[in-house]
Amino acid sequence: MAILGPNALKFSSRSPEQTFRYGLRLGQLLQDGDILLLEGNLGAGKTLLTSGISRGWGAVQSATSPTYLLVNEYSRPDGKIFHHLDCYRLGNFPDVESINLAERLAMNGVLLVEWPQVILPWLPADHLLITLAIMGDDRREIQCEAKGARSAQLLTAFRRLTFER
Ligand SMILES: Nc1ncnc2c1ncn2[C@@H]1O[C@H](COP(=O)(O)OP(=O)(O)O)[C@@H](O)[C@H]1O
Ligand SMILES: [Mg+2]
Repeated sequence: MAILGPNALKFSSRSPEQTFRYGLRLGQLLQDGDILLLEGNLGAGKTLLTSGISRGWGAVQSATSPTYLLVNEYSRPDGKIFHHLDCYRLGNFPDVESINLAERLAMNGVLLVEWPQVILPWLPADHLLITLAIMGDDRREIQCEAKGARSAQLLTAFRRLTFER
């Protein structure tokens, strides 16, 4: 793990299972209103990391790639919802109303977006940006950058939980 500054760090994963476990740790630290944006090429591990994150948060269902509908919702026994968007197929002039983005942001659950670039102008500034890169067959580099006060707090808690025990 390398600390890249007060609000950024990077680390590597050597297997799908390790990526899932990183997700579990991050997921258990999430609070209502947290926003996670996941970037990286196809096959980098965004959806796999999401399944760990949503499971750590407490989701009953397993995360899968949102395909036709671009959106998956996972729920928790307390009724909270984890919104999982994948904007890969949304196009350059997204119809953000079609994915009910404003309503989702107002619902006070957790919002995670794969391929967030096209809807970035509609997203809150304070989010955790996670970039995954393929370094080899089973090796991935994961870089996290906090873009505001809450995401910085989340990233610090994740670093302590994951790398300082
Ligand atoms: N260290 C790793 N972390 C994450 N995925 C990995 C890793 N090594 C191999 N993989 C494989 O890469 C693929 C990642 O797929 P997926 O999570 O759907 O990617 P994305 O959503 O970024 O397109 C899976 O088949 C997974 O098994
Ligand atoms: Mg995916």
